[in-house]
Amino acid sequence: MTLPKKEQSLYICRQCGFESRKWLGQCPDCSSWDALEEQKRSLGASVRRTIDTPVPIISDVAAASERLVTSIGELDRVLGGGIVPGSLVLIGGDPGIGKSTLILQLLAAVSMSGERKDKVLYVTGEESRRQIQLRAQRLGVHSPSLYVSTENCVETITRMAVDMRPLLLAIDSIQTMYSETVASAPGSVTQVREGAARLLELAKSRNISVLLVGHVTKDGAIAGPRVLEHMVDTVLYFEGDRGQVFRILRTVKNRFGATNEIGVFEMKEKGLAEVQNPSALFLAERPVNVPGSVVMPSIEGSRPILVEVQALVSRSSPGSARRTAIGADPQRLALLTAVLEKKLGLTLYDQDIFLNIAGGIRIDEPALDLGMVVALLSSFFEKIVKPTTVVCGEVGLAGEVRAVGHMDMRIRESARLGFAKFLVPASSVQQVREEDRKDMELVGVRTVSDMADYLFV
Ligand code: TYD
Ligand code: MG
Repeated sequence: MTLPKKEQSLYICRQCGFESRKWLGQCPDCSSWDALEEQKRSLGASVRRTIDTPVPIISDVAAASERLVTSIGELDRVLGGGIVPGSLVLIGGDPGIGKSTLILQLLAAVSMSGERKDKVLYVTGEESRRQIQLRAQRLGVHSPSLYVSTENCVETITRMAVDMRPLLLAIDSIQTMYSETVASAPGSVTQVREGAARLLELAKSRNISVLLVGHVTKDGAIAGPRVLEHMVDTVLYFEGDRGQVFRILRTVKNRFGATNEIGVFEMKEKGLAEVQNPSALFLAERPVNVPGSVVMPSIEGSRPILVEVQALVSRSSPGSARRTAIGADPQRLALLTAVLEKKLGLTLYDQDIFLNIAGGIRIDEPALDLGMVVALLSSFFEKIVKPTTVVCGEVGLAGEVRAVGHMDMRIRESARLGFAKFLVPASSVQQVREEDRKDMELVGVRTVSDMADYLFV
């Protein structure tokens, strides 16, 4: 049976927003299975017909560069120096990680700082007004210019914002909002996309900065992920273990600044507190004189952070050796394990291997390789790494230790925290300037096998 033309069904991919006239088992665009769902959409719903007259590229530059400084330093850092007026910022993260808390603190800080009397508006579809007020009380938020609403229709919110002209509008969360022009349920890709499009239009046309909270699905993506990430100017992800107090806010995308910048917070009784000295925090509970632990100076965005790499290598039950990496790439762990077997002749097939970056932070840079290798060796041989030693370097398939960047920053941060010896790729030694060398004994390593001599107590 064919449907009358006007009401023809449209199938939209839940993951990437790909549209098709017929149902398909696999999305041709993003390859996800069983992701196309039927949507009936009135034609023309999202078509906008405004003509934007061309202007010279040099005009209006000054206005665009003026940022709204939130006065929460760690937040300003990930934003690239504050919120750009008229920009759309997405904050993603697991439920309960602290998104609503951060937003409330941010709005309070903005509305209270300086001589500003501008209003800020917090719209939530997640909690009741009473719950928000209680939370605000707990956080010590008592700003008279912070307004709360529990409206969840984007058209109404847009009208509200146009009347009120807030400096900042926060939407918690985009998944609970719906647009009148779309028939599907809140949280579906069409709704999320339409809602975000309306808010984007509001942000750009009225120069109101909009913050969107986005929930993360089980597999770690923001629902309707690609559509949203493409539309917004900045994407921040809240990471961290709910059982831990540290929270890391990471810049995943930023049209107005650097990506991979991180802000470190601690969840306290009265909300999120900035962490001024993350290295000290991540090393605070480091066990001393225990095998399987080593410190690695990592570079996150533009700053160095020292982290503790822990490994546990222990005999497994026959035929079921496990490989687990928390805070690091499991593929990388598998690769390094193979390198150790081949190049050092270790027998690891009958060993369980667990690797963990302490404190709930994720490290993605290749410089972590040497840290992983050293932690593994230390646990395997039951030998303690000298407590004042730090290591970093990329490890190749031939067991060679390869150069990594930003050695100066890594050295300075390590020296500041009292480390005295640094195992670095041999080819990185020349990069280091004289003045950085005086605080630190540098040991250049060429391969994983010529490293063991320097390492252990
Ligand atoms: P929340 O901001 O509601 O998370 P999200 O919006 O990302 O779902 O944070 C919820 C958690 O934070 C909750 O488990 C309680 C904890 N919390 C504190 O520890 N201290 C506080 O001051 C607040 C407000 C929350
Ligand atoms: Mg929330």
